[in-house]
Amino acid sequence: KVTNLAPTPPMGWNSWNTFQTNINEQLLRNMVDVYVSSGMKDAGYRYFTLDDGWMSMERDQNGQLVADPKKFPSGMKAFADYVHSKGLKFGIYNCAGDKTCAGYPGTRGHEYEDARLYASWGVDLLKYDWCNTDSLNAREAYITMARALQATGRPILFSLCEWGNHQPWLWADGVGEMYRATGDITANFDKDKHMGTWTALSVLTIVDKQPAIRQYNGPNHWNDADMLEVGNGMSYGEDKAHFTMWCMLAAPLVAGNDLRKMSAQTRGILTDKEAIAINQDAMGVAAYRISGNADGVEIWIKPLSNKNWAICFLNRSAQPQTVDYNWTKNALHDAQTKQDADFTKTTYKLHSLWDKKDIGTTKKAFKQTIPAHDVVLLTLKQS
Ligand code: DGJ
Repeated sequence: KVTNLAPTPPMGWNSWNTFQTNINEQLLRNMVDVYVSSGMKDAGYRYFTLDDGWMSMERDQNGQLVADPKKFPSGMKAFADYVHSKGLKFGIYNCAGDKTCAGYPGTRGHEYEDARLYASWGVDLLKYDWCNTDSLNAREAYITMARALQATGRPILFSLCEWGNHQPWLWADGVGEMYRATGDITANFDKDKHMGTWTALSVLTIVDKQPAIRQYNGPNHWNDADMLEVGNGMSYGEDKAHFTMWCMLAAPLVAGNDLRKMSAQTRGILTDKEAIAINQDAMGVAAYRISGNADGVEIWIKPLSNKNWAICFLNRSAQPQTVDYNWTKNALHDAQTKQDADFTKTTYKLHSLWDKKDIGTTKKAFKQTIPAHDVVLLTLKQS
């Protein structure tokens, strides 16, 4: 399934992180309205995706999936039409296994008929999960569904949600436009949450999985670092650091907060045009880490178009940390794109993105104290 549906990382909203299966038509129509009125659409977000929990517990007598009539009394086609009427794209969820993770009917053995149903509703994105898959071969299962989507003739972005055990980064290119490589995120900055045999991941745990798979990330096959937890309970600095890293990683930006209740700070993060421009940069390459430092400040570098760069100083620690960075002693070189910068020869203008300030050039060392669990994000443009 070779498409150009996602030349830059997809942007959208998904119901799971806040609502799990507690979704219904009225709630979601309100969310669609706020998606537009809050400025999310203007900032570039497009997909509106229903995650697990939209279906009835059984297929109908013809074997078709049905939207839960209590949750969606007007039916799914009417809901999709509403999403489209606001200029947004409509996403839906199912699972490669017999049942979804929450126990609703899965798609295994029904790939082509489910794809046709989604196309008839006007679905623009399918997120395809990996629960209850027993002996299924992941690559083959995702290829089968990709072919089923393609056979409908409708362009449907395919979002792979296998959590990394079958190395989707090695085969997702040409199968789906984005793929998960990690388990589920939680609104925790540095502490994983253990729930029986299952672990939900912190922002930093997900970040730490990225360097090893960076090279596989790119246009139309984006590594999905999971949906955003901005606005879901972390501190302002943590939310800012989380969003910044997703922008640096060229990860899909899928908000997961209750848009109806978002604070001005949350909206400010999610709709920041400069941060989004880094995420959406046409070069489409993820940041690399030049210095790992589990207890302190890490430096992440993203090559941008026109030989520009973004640099993130990520303070992982629970203490403020002071950085003192001497550009002329630290030439940049990205082995993947071959982009480099020698600050003894070329001077760049520095802009501090979240402070919204120009802060001079690379002729002078950069010194700043970064609060605990926070970032400083700089863009470098040739002057
Ligand atoms: C597991 C996925 O990783 C989550 O993003 C979410 O889709 C749930 N399943 C739904 O059950």
